[in-house]
Amino acid sequence: MNNRPHIYAPEIWNNPHPFYSTLRRDAPVSQVEPGGMWAVTRYEDVLYVLKHPQLFSSEGLRAAVQPAWLEQRNPVCDSLLMMDPPAHTRLRALISRTFSAQGVARLEPFIRSSAESIVADMLARRRVDFVESMALALPSRAMSALLGLDASLVPRFKRWADAVVSVGITPAEATQRRAELCADLDDLKHHLTQVLELRRREPGNDVVNDLLQARAQGGVVSDDELMSFLVILLIAGLETTYNLLGLCGLMLADHPELWARLKADRTLVPRFIEEVLRFHSPSQSTMRITTQETELGGVRLPKGAVLLVQFVSANRDESVFPNAHHFDLDRTGAPNLAFGQGIHFCVGAPLARLEARTAVEVLLERCDRLVREPGPVTWNVAVTTRGLAVLPLELLPV
Ligand code: HEM
Repeated sequence: MNNRPHIYAPEIWNNPHPFYSTLRRDAPVSQVEPGGMWAVTRYEDVLYVLKHPQLFSSEGLRAAVQPAWLEQRNPVCDSLLMMDPPAHTRLRALISRTFSAQGVARLEPFIRSSAESIVADMLARRRVDFVESMALALPSRAMSALLGLDASLVPRFKRWADAVVSVGITPAEATQRRAELCADLDDLKHHLTQVLELRRREPGNDVVNDLLQARAQGGVVSDDELMSFLVILLIAGLETTYNLLGLCGLMLADHPELWARLKADRTLVPRFIEEVLRFHSPSQSTMRITTQETELGGVRLPKGAVLLVQFVSANRDESVFPNAHHFDLDRTGAPNLAFGQGIHFCVGAPLARLEARTAVEVLLERCDRLVREPGPVTWNVAVTTRGLAVLPLELLPV
């Protein structure tokens, strides 16, 4: 037995900030359990890791996210997230059209009308679980439109996302659910295969089409890569945006002074979203593996060291964000790292920001107030993501 802190310990899992504040001060690059991963906690070191993919690889992690009990290949393994240049550069270029500012702007009317119908429905019911009714519903609609998945499949999205997020590095509990997780992964792949077959027959003008064309023109993308691409788009597009929207709802309900300022001046909404991203880090970490012996933050790391790159910690680094544990709408200065940095910088950031901005704007337009039922919030946490499991709210109409 060693004395390393375990990141699944309930006190860290439920509120990681005191733990990471201590690490930033005393041991900014240090080993934690499970697996003796090296937690990287300071802003500066996190940035250094993300900007040096030749030293800190994503591709080398494939074995680490393929648990022995999982009989099928973890679809995340062949995705952009688990690639280094030059393969990463080639694949990322394929989806740049869809996720460019222009590509995302095309989705704006659809996202606005979806947000409006979701808020109208919530107002009609008045008391809702905001997480299910808005935070999950809006990104699900956006992703089903983006990937051409039938709307009737939307109720399965969360199960699929949970399965993909759970098969990587997980608490022991996940292995007990393995039959269920494998069945969910099979179901996901089955439906994405159908999307690909449909698009082969009836080409559209979307991201699936771009990928299929690249495959047809000389096998630029393998079948595994193609499937992984769709899986990672769906899951990355869903899970983190879902967390962001739920956390926006929490801040709006719990801070009437914020609500009042935003209502009076809607141009502050993008700043609000950035501060929620910094304050809560819905994607709380990512991972890398060292390609050679190297030094980071004064610590000598061996080749093959698995790093837990903690956005949740970097975004509260007091040396970069004055009064870091305070939610501050007027904050200026360094950008938060919620979407990462460097070559893997989140390709969906413009879409996530659009969804969050639209949801908040429609809530401000249609509601007088959001009232939270008293009591502690229930967190839904995985190694890489952090958000709310439920958020019971009452919506008061204007
Ligand atoms: C990558 C966060 C929404 C698709 C990333 C990374 C982060 C992140 C931190 C970098 C991971 C790394 O460096 O290893 C978030 C957050 C979101 C969000 C906080 C919402 C609030 C989305 C959406 C999509 C998306 C809406 C797509 C529809 C991706 C993809 C990558 C990625 C494909 C891999 C990029 C690459 O490896 O080059 N995301 N994301 N994300 N994200 Fe997002």
